[in-house]
Amino acid sequence: MPVETLRWHGSLDGSLRIIDQRLLPGELKFRELRNVEAVFEAIQTLAVRGAPAIGIAAAYGVFIGVRDCPDDSSTFRSELKRVCKYLAGSRPTAVNLFYALDRVQALADDMAQTPAGEIKEAILEEAHKMLREDLDASRRMGENCQQFVKDGATYMTNCNAGGLATGGYGTALAAFYIAKEQGKKVSVFACETRPLLQGARLTTWELMREGIDVTLICDNMAATVLRQGKISGIFVGADRIAANGDAANKIGTYPLALLAREHGVPFYIVAPLSTFDFSLKSGDDIPIEQRAPQEVTHFAGRASAPEDVGVFNPAFDVTPAQLITAIICETGVAQNPDMAGLQALL
Ligand code: MRU
Repeated sequence: MPVETLRWHGSLDGSLRIIDQRLLPGELKFRELRNVEAVFEAIQTLAVRGAPAIGIAAAYGVFIGVRDCPDDSSTFRSELKRVCKYLAGSRPTAVNLFYALDRVQALADDMAQTPAGEIKEAILEEAHKMLREDLDASRRMGENCQQFVKDGATYMTNCNAGGLATGGYGTALAAFYIAKEQGKKVSVFACETRPLLQGARLTTWELMREGIDVTLICDNMAATVLRQGKISGIFVGADRIAANGDAANKIGTYPLALLAREHGVPFYIVAPLSTFDFSLKSGDDIPIEQRAPQEVTHFAGRASAPEDVGVFNPAFDVTPAQLITAIICETGVAQNPDMAGLQALL
């Protein structure tokens, strides 16, 4: 069963209901987002997070942002532009956000002669469509992973690329959900993912909920586990994949890829086509979000470092394509990914 990470509730005057992921695993609480500022804040503070989920939330956010604006054409068009620009400022790295905003804007452009009221309805329908597409793509990614998932094997993952990061099944974690559906038994080592602990708080919660064996480790234990020969493969998601196959994902992913190479373990990126950004030649061009120093200097609201210490807090790193065994998406698999391999997936 997919988790209901984000769902629309009601009709045109409804709201976007999200699981507030900041409260997990202690509390499973839903929040109703009824205005565009609330959607922006939810994305920026990681109440809703993970590249595909951010994109879907943004699409619903556009509808919420324009639904009450006057229906005269020029007011509607300038408001639509303003709302898209505003939401685009919520987080910089996951390209799914910009993919979703561009898609909604293009839909409205195609309906230039249509009354604004109808365009608003079409935007809501487009957001529903993106959610449906995501659920379908997740399952297909999970299926495409199965050639690399063996019964009885143990895998490693970083951050949360599961149902909570998508419409409900996940990307990297879909590999394990589909394996279970197919009767395979797999075990997973989840890296905790400092500083915001998406691995510890979210991945373990999700996998345990689905009855998949999971062991939590601190990020600095990954080398030890790999050296012990316990891991048959590493599966992670991505926030943006450049044209040459370089992939940005949660900070701590690149070191795992280096460790995988050193220990002869395959390293897989699982991501939908909406995460590919062919406008960027390489990973060097991917904008990396820098987050607040307090995420590093504080733990559970208490200082864990001296006040005023200098902090470097990039939320993502880039894994060069040469370290990636395969990129798996909903349309297939690119082994030893490069530009031609990625284009063949389109
Ligand atoms: O900062 P987050 O929690 O949004 O980062 C999420 C990740 O890095 C995920 O691995 C990525 O978005 C892929 S999710 C299917």
